[in-house]
Amino acid sequence: MSLQDRTAIITGASRGIGLAIAQRLVADGARVVITGRTQETLDQAVESLGGRAHAFAVAGKAADPEHRASVVAAAVATYGSVDLLVNNTGINPIYGKLLDVDPAVATKMVDTNVLATIAWVKACRDAWMRAHGGAVVNLSSVAGLAPSPGIGWYGATKAMLSRVTAELAVELAPEIRVNAVAPAVVKTKFAGALYEGREDKVASTYPLQRLGTPEDVASLVWFLLSDEASWITGQTITIDGGLTLNGGIVG
Ligand SMILES: NC(=O)c1ccc[n+]([C@@H]2O[C@H](COP(=O)([O-])OP(=O)(O)OC[C@H]3O[C@@H](n4cnc5c(N)ncnc54)[C@H](OP(=O)(O)O)[C@@H]3O)[C@@H](O)[C@H]2O)c1
Repeated sequence: MSLQDRTAIITGASRGIGLAIAQRLVADGARVVITGRTQETLDQAVESLGGRAHAFAVAGKAADPEHRASVVAAAVATYGSVDLLVNNTGINPIYGKLLDVDPAVATKMVDTNVLATIAWVKACRDAWMRAHGGAVVNLSSVAGLAPSPGIGWYGATKAMLSRVTAELAVELAPEIRVNAVAPAVVKTKFAGALYEGREDKVASTYPLQRLGTPEDVASLVWFLLSDEASWITGQTITIDGGLTLNGGIVG
């Protein structure tokens, strides 16, 4: 168990990719602190992870500074460290052309998808990682790699997140490694509008002929967090069933 007794904070982890990452890490011996906005679904997730010996949850919004501080403090108080951080929360409340994006909504997306990520890293660095080391993985997207009609602003925030990942990797080396993953469509509530009712048609555009699962992404995140990836930092690793190889776009 390569993550035995390490503590991970995973934001936005009551379901979907975040919960699959939590399950993967707990299976490898880690203790996880998960977040989300809804207490009830967080409680169900903690139960599915085996209870407080393995996981606990703190409800709140990823972009709220008080929430961040309380999560990091609770992680150190309960499990004694914050070795790993997964910035999994990402929002996309709009669908449409870039020129029609409401500036207030666009700003909120930057706050949650990018600035909150930096603030979570800072909080974990100050509380633990600067003195003891650590590893961070941010959830980017293939929408950040190429134009994605309809979700263009979301893609722009993810492109910014990948760049921020590289900047943080340089600033925080050698104590802290910072990487990102960029999935194509993964079957979760978040991506439902991109495949529900037409999954076979969408999957046929992927060389590997299927959409992603949360577990696919969790395996890659586990690897990047583990010591197996100890010479990798600043990278955004694409995980897309081959979609981008033949010019496929999400959207
Ligand atoms: N699914 C895909 O196809 C795909 C592809 C590429 C990248 N991604 C990225 O992967 C990440 C996870 O997506 P997902 O598909 O797993 O989404 P999901 O299934 O909808 O899960 C989102 C999780 O985040 C929580 N959450 C939402 N807004 C939050 C906020 N403001 N603060 C804290 N928690 C919040 C949700 O719980 P509550 O609703 O209770 O808060 C839930 O636990 C995102 O960053 C997304 O951009 C997804």
